[in-house]
Amino acid sequence: MSKKRVLTGYRPTGRLTLGHWFGNLLNMLELQESHEAYYFVADWHALTSDWQDTHAIRQYTEEMVLDWLAAGIDPAKSVIYRQSDVPEVAELAMYLSMVTPMSWLERVPSYKEQREQITEKDLGNVGFFLYPLMQAADITIVRGDVVPVGQDQLPHLELTREIVRRFNNQYGELVPEPAALIPKEGARVPGTDGRKMSKSYGNAIYLSETPEDTAAKVMGMLTDPARKLKTDPGNPDICPLQHMHKLVGDAGDVAEWDRCCRVAECGCVPHKRALTQDLNAYLGPFRQRRTELAARPGHAWEVLADGASRVRPEVVRLMGAVRAAMHVDAERP
Ligand code: TRP
Repeated sequence: MSKKRVLTGYRPTGRLTLGHWFGNLLNMLELQESHEAYYFVADWHALTSDWQDTHAIRQYTEEMVLDWLAAGIDPAKSVIYRQSDVPEVAELAMYLSMVTPMSWLERVPSYKEQREQITEKDLGNVGFFLYPLMQAADITIVRGDVVPVGQDQLPHLELTREIVRRFNNQYGELVPEPAALIPKEGARVPGTDGRKMSKSYGNAIYLSETPEDTAAKVMGMLTDPARKLKTDPGNPDICPLQHMHKLVGDAGDVAEWDRCCRVAECGCVPHKRALTQDLNAYLGPFRQRRTELAARPGHAWEVLADGASRVRPEVVRLMGAVRAAMHVDAERP
């Protein structure tokens, strides 16, 4: 029985965090065993919002690939490629745009939300408006069967399904309709300030940062705000330190920190030191592989080139069929 094809992409906008590790990477590792995995760097999608400052996209592309590889995404199992190395995606997006009413794109909730909330960037460009349409092309161009998506991306996938139906209806069954794969709820990782970990909140622990950086961030972490003195009993249920510790620490140790906090036997500072140690130990093997990979100049680009060479033949075949069905190939009548 052939495996289903899973596809997901990430915009190269920064190094990956502990939040990505528990929220996405562990899931991607499982999926590369059970599925035919297609993981791509969505560098064109990064342009849609960051078109005024594109200088870091190449660097972040490389870093994202190194982060994936160090985490165990294996080029022998997964096809790792870069969106812009498959420029036919733009052509397919253009064809898909023919069957897509403008109102469908205007309705996408994340579009309206981001236009309202993100004020420091100019998002009035057509490219940003086309974001979900390009996403539909990303998925269909490699015949993705399933796409792991969080709640916020569900409307994008629903839109892709509608576009695919309309396209196939018009020109024949050219591409499969993808299904959403709602991943097992990945652990929600608190940032150092207790809010959800996010690069844009400045509260993130990066997988590839130094143990010293991690130590400094953990020592500055928020704990139960009601616990002013060591002699005050604390509430670990609302303590970001304890939430993070549960993810990376030994269960027995973590239970002991829970107990001694509630009865005010131990303070937050030694607990921070313990978490620092456990976190750095947990990330140690990743960081070592990451350092080794980074010492091989050009390695990430070789992996991407290899991925592109695996994707391209099927893309060329599909696009041939699409052009023929739309009567825009060179076939004489
Ligand atoms: N929207 C994704 C993000 O915000 C990136 C992305 C682009 C994507 N195309 C995709 C995800 C296709 C899944 C499938 O990072």
